[in-house]
Amino acid sequence: MAIVYLNGEFLPLEDARISVLDRGFIFGDGVYEVLPVYRRQIFRLNEHLNRLDNSLTSIHMLNPLTLEQWRVVLMTLVERCPEDNQSMCKPLIKCDYSNGIRAVTCEDIRWKWCHIKAITLLPSVLLRYEAAEKDATEAILLKDDFVTEGAASNVFIVQQGVVKTPPKDDNILPGITRDLVIELLIGTGIPCREIKISRKELVSADEIWITSSTWEIVPVIELDGKTIGNGRPGKMWGKAMDIYQEFKKNMTVSN
Ligand code: PDD
Repeated sequence: MAIVYLNGEFLPLEDARISVLDRGFIFGDGVYEVLPVYRRQIFRLNEHLNRLDNSLTSIHMLNPLTLEQWRVVLMTLVERCPEDNQSMCKPLIKCDYSNGIRAVTCEDIRWKWCHIKAITLLPSVLLRYEAAEKDATEAILLKDDFVTEGAASNVFIVQQGVVKTPPKDDNILPGITRDLVIELLIGTGIPCREIKISRKELVSADEIWITSSTWEIVPVIELDGKTIGNGRPGKMWGKAMDIYQEFKKNMTVSN
């Protein structure tokens, strides 16, 4: 049974209720985090809690708990969930995207402060619908002909052996997976640059990947109906995945 923490109480999901007048419900005035749990260990806990704190500050909301209190609440939730691998207090359901996904490009119709992990996700939902209508799994967003991110992911490309991803600014969510991928690639000596990516560079890239906490690193094999690379997950993606999985295998609570 899924357990949630609401207003200081641990409750079965079915019993958790919020008022119809809740500002989050009415105005979308709220922020959130998605933390994956592997083998009962929360992945990148400090990074997620720091981002939550930044998001709360951005929307003028006091963080109700200290980092230590958050840690205790989250560890309690993890303990009470029957599954070893979890996301949002539920079993972590992983789709197998290892053969690659199809993506489409869309205009980034979202607002100006995409660095905040806000619950107000209507534009992202509509962009995902647009992708689904075109038989694609993710929408890769462009603003003024430069890549920002995916509807619910960050974007990487590989160009002649160099991995590139857009720099952090207000146009993108500072992805925890993105940061870790950069750190791991650089640590292994693979060239990786945080640099603006134009539409032209995106469509002609040797490889495209998208990253998120629940998807990890997913190769894009088709963009707007055109094959990327040789139409199969690229070699660099394979390397990045191996490094990422190795990191996960060796992770400790402090990771
Ligand atoms: N979404 N950009 C956007 C717009 C996202 O919604 C997400 C993640 C990311 C990747 O961030 P991270 O690596 O920290 O998960 C980037 C999550 C998984 C979600 O809302 O379900």
